[in-house]
Amino acid sequence: MEKIIIFDTTLRDGEQAPGASLTAQEKLEIAFQLEKLGVDVIEAGFPIASPGDFQAVSDISKRIKNSAVCGLARCLKQDIEAANNALKIARHPRIHIFLATSKIHLEYKFKKPEEEIFALAKQATKLARRLCDDIEFSPEDATRSERSFLYRVIEAVIDQGARTINIPDTVGYSYPQEVYSLITDIKNNVPNINKAVIAIHCHDDLGMAVANSLSAVLAGARQVHCTINGIGERAGNASLEEIVMAIKTRKDAFINLYTQIKTKELFPTSRLVSNLTDFIVPPNKAVVGRNAFAHESGIHQDAVLKKKITYEIMDPHDVGISESQLVLGKHSGRHAFRSRLEALGFHLNDEQLNKAFIRFKEVADKKKDIFDDDLRIIVEDEIRVVKPIWQLESFEVNSGTKIKPKALVTVNKKGKKLNSVSSGDGPVDAVFKAIDKITGYNAKLEDFRLEAVTSGKDALGQVSLKLKIKDKVISGRGSSTDIIEAAIRAYLNAVNKLETK
Ligand code: KIV
Ligand code: ZN
Repeated sequence: MEKIIIFDTTLRDGEQAPGASLTAQEKLEIAFQLEKLGVDVIEAGFPIASPGDFQAVSDISKRIKNSAVCGLARCLKQDIEAANNALKIARHPRIHIFLATSKIHLEYKFKKPEEEIFALAKQATKLARRLCDDIEFSPEDATRSERSFLYRVIEAVIDQGARTINIPDTVGYSYPQEVYSLITDIKNNVPNINKAVIAIHCHDDLGMAVANSLSAVLAGARQVHCTINGIGERAGNASLEEIVMAIKTRKDAFINLYTQIKTKELFPTSRLVSNLTDFIVPPNKAVVGRNAFAHESGIHQDAVLKKKITYEIMDPHDVGISESQLVLGKHSGRHAFRSRLEALGFHLNDEQLNKAFIRFKEVADKKKDIFDDDLRIIVEDEIRVVKPIWQLESFEVNSGTKIKPKALVTVNKKGKKLNSVSSGDGPVDAVFKAIDKITGYNAKLEDFRLEAVTSGKDALGQVSLKLKIKDKVISGRGSSTDIIEAAIRAYLNAVNKLETK
């Protein structure tokens, strides 16, 4: 059996998704979960990009034991040294250097001839290899590069000690047969290619990132770059969960290939990344979407009851989806609450547990049955709040078909209660305007989504939104059985994030 190395770039390319910025603490939390999931390499960030990125890569290097930790660098001395410094404490450090090789990039981005780029790639690999044993090289925009130049660069960087050659489809332009030929041609035309592992890195601009990655695997690539939920620059990257489950489910096509991913951790990882990045997973998303295993039609339901294999090619339990269980109600005590949370993978300290328990009781007063999914949202809302600088105290809304909606909102800032009244186009608009009057921000609502967490009329509603404040787009989430309250919580969550960051 041959292993397909899973290189996760959620914390680097994934974080490049517009509006998906994560704090160093949130990145660490995701890194722990990626390690639990069993990814081979965690690309933790781009250390030269900002002090925050440097810190995150260095924190992750300190704490991650089993997965290799990787930092990105351009072919520049200062980038490579920054990556090396951030990775110093890692048990298995890897420096990933990249340089574009396509004519389009050379002409318009660098304005440099091929020979200069060739020399830069060689020098940078040599320097990186002096500092770190494990070097990965990416000829950026490889799929649009002239073949002969691409082969020359790959051969040269392998000679300088690159152990992995990653082939990026940077702009998501390729299609599966083309990727298959490219990998095959690299194997046939780069004389020293057997000294390196071939990797593939696909973007989803034409919706083919996963298909292209799998095609590369069939042609001989043995490492795949991917992200949780497929988040990433523009249309995103190849989705980790889809690649892993395709290889596992279609053993007849991916003969003798396996990944070391613990697939039962796929769903919890997807939820964590979605909650921390505020990127909602579409209900119809393959493998981890809410509807991925839901059978609506009567014919399908009947057949599945008779024999699952009729309409289910994967077992939902294999990817960590279990039926959301009815677990607690308003009479449940702290002990039952803590044990259920531990079963769901949350290990809270006493202060976090207290906060989450108070919120649980508030929700249980309004909602008779509390399911696992409700608990997850309650805990995530309470323990992952960035510093709660602005907190909701109370609100009143007056709205109807014949009146202009009006809202009174009271918030608490450092123990001081502040309130304001405003009218708006709707009740949500009115509460947001009232909050703006209090905080002094003139926030523009860029996106607003409401989702029911579980079923039933008393379901928890979760609001995810994006605000534009002073040219920064910042996301927020909040939940409640009352959708106006959920909207206020999400709005304040975004404002708190802005002030904390
Ligand atoms: O898409 C791309 O080309 C990249 C490189 C840095 C590998 O993300
Ligand atoms: Zn990329």
